[in-house]
Amino acid sequence: MNGKQATMTAENGGHDAVNGHVSHKKDAHIDLVNGDDIDEDLDLTEEVPDPYCDEKNPHVVSFNDVSAAAYKIKGGVEKSPCSLSQMSKQYDMQIYFKKDFLQYTGSFKERGARYLLSQLSQSQAKKGVIAASAGNHALALAYHGRLLNVPVTVVMPICAPMMKVEACRHQSATVVVTGFDLGEAKRYAMALGKKRGLMYVNGYDHPHIVAGQGTMGLEIIEQVPHLDACIIPVGGGGLIAGSAIALKALKPGVKIIGVESERSTSFQAALAAGHPVRTHVGQTLADGLAVPVVGCNSLATSLGHIDKMVTVRESYIALAILRLIEQEKAVVEGAGAAGLAAIIEGLVPELKGKTVVVALCGGNIDTTALGRVIERGLAAEGRLVRFGVTVSDRPGGIAELAKRIADIGVSIKDILHERAWLQTDVFSVMVRCVVETRDMEHARQLEREMRKHYSHVEFPLDASTV
Ligand SMILES: Cc1ncc(COP(=O)(O)O)c(C=O)c1O
Repeated sequence: MNGKQATMTAENGGHDAVNGHVSHKKDAHIDLVNGDDIDEDLDLTEEVPDPYCDEKNPHVVSFNDVSAAAYKIKGGVEKSPCSLSQMSKQYDMQIYFKKDFLQYTGSFKERGARYLLSQLSQSQAKKGVIAASAGNHALALAYHGRLLNVPVTVVMPICAPMMKVEACRHQSATVVVTGFDLGEAKRYAMALGKKRGLMYVNGYDHPHIVAGQGTMGLEIIEQVPHLDACIIPVGGGGLIAGSAIALKALKPGVKIIGVESERSTSFQAALAAGHPVRTHVGQTLADGLAVPVVGCNSLATSLGHIDKMVTVRESYIALAILRLIEQEKAVVEGAGAAGLAAIIEGLVPELKGKTVVVALCGGNIDTTALGRVIERGLAAEGRLVRFGVTVSDRPGGIAELAKRIADIGVSIKDILHERAWLQTDVFSVMVRCVVETRDMEHARQLEREMRKHYSHVEFPLDASTV
């Protein structure tokens, strides 16, 4: 903790900093939570522009840029497998998974990070770079910075998963944890970067980052030349922008489909407005996609290359993570699983019978979060069901309920009974159960069985209630 406090109180929040419209509040200050190298005298009232991301003059990344990046990062970043999925039959499409979660630090972000670091001038490489990131971009920069001998400072918001913070420290990066969200972390990083001569690296919008991410598209076309469509999760827009440029240049007919979580739809808002706009971002399983304002370069690069955007529900992201574990033996984080979630949710029916590449672009998920996600996924599939039923409080009432549940092959995981709160009948007891079923149909059979024997049954089955 370094004995420092924990809040950032710039009233406009760093949100505006992300948007590039920091208001000049004299009382703005950041109190640090924790860090390797804390600057207590930093002036956070000044607006620090990012010269590489200028909304008035966006940089459109070209196919040549992506090709140059591919040449440069060869040998430094894995060419991840792109293999036919077991799920192809189930969804009536040839599904190939591009497995970038297998990169050393667990995400595609290494592509852009490696390229950017390799392009620094000698003097900048000596001074170093700084970035704000909740996870994957920070990890990728930290790792390749160590390999290429470039000092890296990462500013991570306090909501960043502990595992990612520790992993950055492990790569010998200077880590500062501050700000409630990415916007606030970015405000601090911009100010510190200016003061110390460190170049700020936007993780989804610096042109070299976008070009680097595009190398995923180049690999996909080499690995699955007959693809009809590619589904790509979208946060700030760097991955879809770079990959779309590569894919469309080499195969203009290929459909590019972007996926956002229902809790962060900033790219669709930006496409509708024609420029990046601030959107509300809620808590999402796909933390990598939770970007309130997309990148202006990414947006400009993507225009005209994206055929469709879809919004996935959180319960389907959980389900996708579960399916990937069970059927593909792959641990993928929420952001990385969003593409499959779109297929499971039925948002791309036009792809039936087609060859579709789905980017599984990150695998960094906290183990504790994974446990909760698996339960949500099971619940979304009707395989973990919570219900309540009022039974007789006479001897044998609960035993009879347990037998009825067991007789149809349902397994009780948790059972709790409440007597005191029931107002209807003093000889009744409300029993709440969490049970394991085979599938949704089995769960429905359980519901029918309960309704047949008991007059008061509460049965939430809908995946949307998860
Ligand atoms: C795993 C994962 N997938 C997708 C994305 C979205 O990438 P972009 O911000 O370039 O749109 C991110 C961003 O951090 C991510 O970590």
